[in-house]
Amino acid sequence: MTALAGRRGLVVGGSTGIGRAIAQAWSRAGMDVHVLSRSRPAEQGALRWSAVDLADPEQARAVLAEAGRGPLDAVAFSAVSYGDKRATFSDTPLAQWRQQIEVNLNGLWLTLAATLPALRAARPGLFLNVSSEVVFNGGPGRSGYAATKAACASLVDSVHQEEDPDDVRFVSVLPAGMVDSPGIRRRRPADFDYSDYMRPDSFGPVAVELALTAGAQHNGDSLVVHGDGTWNPVRDRVPVSQSDRARV
Ligand SMILES: NC(=O)c1ccc[n+]([C@@H]2O[C@H](COP(=O)([O-])OP(=O)(O)OC[C@H]3O[C@@H](n4cnc5c(N)ncnc54)[C@H](OP(=O)(O)O)[C@@H]3O)[C@@H](O)[C@H]2O)c1
Repeated sequence: MTALAGRRGLVVGGSTGIGRAIAQAWSRAGMDVHVLSRSRPAEQGALRWSAVDLADPEQARAVLAEAGRGPLDAVAFSAVSYGDKRATFSDTPLAQWRQQIEVNLNGLWLTLAATLPALRAARPGLFLNVSSEVVFNGGPGRSGYAATKAACASLVDSVHQEEDPDDVRFVSVLPAGMVDSPGIRRRRPADFDYSDYMRPDSFGPVAVELALTAGAQHNGDSLVVHGDGTWNPVRDRVPVSQSDRARV
């Protein structure tokens, strides 16, 4: 498949999980894709990769400045720190909160700052934000994650309203259910049953479609992605909470 041949993409947090699925889908469709993360993506294939630690703002700024030099047609932000374990607010160490602010929120800010000039030059470029139902539903055991993801959604919405849609379009994608990813597995017991979890690959079709159209028809939208790869705008139906008080 060469539908995206000649296009250049960047996926921040593209080594595992949903970010990796987006990077691979874009790459398989012919895009030249650069991944930024701490660890190298498994089965790297044609993906280019550079190391970045978003919790180290000076290093992250330098790496993103280099990666954002362009040309760039599409940028996805999928990096996340869930925290080491589920914990109530009172049991959350300050260091975990700070890590979530650095990776989830400041990482997005740095990525926007570094890549918007190249995306504008693509006329139009696509900024794809990987979001979550926690933007609409706070919940027990997820205060840092929910607060940072809600702030990310607000940041993207504000920047989207500042930018000319002929220059850059902004689309958020979020899963309809839980997704089996390394970040989620780190917080579950070894014998946990993932049979009703979505697979990260479900994000491939929407990522390719949005890259092909540079988000036309969906600028400013949040799209709920389902396990079969289909999607619908959040405004059709606000996602329900996946939070489980019993597991906190
Ligand atoms: N999984 C779900 O059920 C679910 C549900 C709703 C929303 N989401 C959203 O989906 C997105 C991806 O989540 P996922 O579950 O697929 O996560 P994941 O597999 O844990 O992937 C997270 C990515 O972030 C990178 N990352 C983490 N810390 C980093 C740091 N300090 N510096 C640079 N990169 C860092 C990881 O790479 P390295 O470890 O190599 O650095 C990895 O590439 C997130 O936005 C999340 O909010 C997921």
